[in-house]
Amino acid sequence: MPDRNLRIVLASRPVGPPSPDNFRIEQAPVPSPGEGQVLLKILYLSLDPYMRGRMSAAKSYAAPVEIGQVMEGGTVAEVLESRHPGYSPGDLVLSHSGWQTHALSDGAGLRKLDPAQAPVTTALGVLGMPGFTAYAGLLTIGQPKPGETVVVAAASGPVGATVGQIAKIKGARAVGIAGGPEKCALVRDAFGFDAVIDHRSPTFAEELRAACPDGIDVYFENVGGKVWEAVFPLLNPFARIPVCGLIAQYNATGPFEGPDRLPVLMRDVLTKSLTIRGFIQREFQAQRPAFYREMAQWIAEGRVRYKEDIVLGLENAPEAFIGLLEGRNFGKLIVQIA
Ligand SMILES: NC(=O)c1ccc[n+]([C@@H]2O[C@H](COP(=O)([O-])OP(=O)(O)OC[C@H]3O[C@@H](n4cnc5c(N)ncnc54)[C@H](OP(=O)(O)O)[C@@H]3O)[C@@H](O)[C@H]2O)c1
Repeated sequence: MPDRNLRIVLASRPVGPPSPDNFRIEQAPVPSPGEGQVLLKILYLSLDPYMRGRMSAAKSYAAPVEIGQVMEGGTVAEVLESRHPGYSPGDLVLSHSGWQTHALSDGAGLRKLDPAQAPVTTALGVLGMPGFTAYAGLLTIGQPKPGETVVVAAASGPVGATVGQIAKIKGARAVGIAGGPEKCALVRDAFGFDAVIDHRSPTFAEELRAACPDGIDVYFENVGGKVWEAVFPLLNPFARIPVCGLIAQYNATGPFEGPDRLPVLMRDVLTKSLTIRGFIQREFQAQRPAFYREMAQWIAEGRVRYKEDIVLGLENAPEAFIGLLEGRNFGKLIVQIA
């Protein structure tokens, strides 16, 4: 039995981009499971943009991580010891155990994983929360139709890549936006998007316009900022905009720069009959069974592909997470812990 639990706690709240000193690595004894509990050994930790929000005390849809608390996060774990009737040692589960090597669970929120069905890491990406976010947000709010143009940024990541591929399955044209030539090549060649634009290009807005000759019918919003500025004039009447994330703003410290564009936005919402709807994926929980069924089939048929970026060692999680907010990840970011 291991004798220590390594864990990464929130040491301080970042102002602007997070830095390594906002995190602290600690050791604690490995806890023993009580009646009805299991002891989990964490194998993989998911790193996701929402964690930036949890580091901040600002009011949001979920409570922040407190200073000194273990950083929150989705994990794939192995049951080491069980005093729970539903689990046996060796079972692999999806859990929400945070940035640490071991954790106790009473079974709430655990989901058994079958490695024969899919690599277990996919439970953190394409067959997990990010994939579900793409599925539910695009199909419920975006509602792409054959021949329409769907645009999504962060297109090499687990949400964006899945959005574009589902759009294609539904008969739409998928236009991706990504940072740098390597990511753009992946989006076009591996994920099969019809066009991809590099948002770092000095002529980004013109290239986007050229890639969307019939305008934009669905814009799946992942980033905000200058990408939104370039998309906005291209929106067609009755365009749908699922607002999933605004990563370009997550490290902002004060009021946003530039003129107030709200009157222009509201004019277009009215005159173009735009639908702009924000969402948090868990609002669509009822669609989970359909998602698992359809997504597993699409992956098996090769119609949805995915890329993972696996970093080794819990101690490297803070640096990898800082890189995620700067676009340094290349695919679904996962930390392999054991
Ligand atoms: N609403 C929900 O329930 C929900 C659930 C899950 C995720 N999300 C959101 O979905 C979005 C994508 O998440 P993900 O897990 O798939 O992340 P991801 O794509 O793996 O990583 C984030 C990517 O965002 C891009 N990015 C960062 N700063 C940017 C900027 N200033 N301008 C343009 N692009 C920027 C980078 O890609 P490039 O290098 O290509 O720019 C970076 O790799 C995030 O906004 C996240 O918060 C929402």
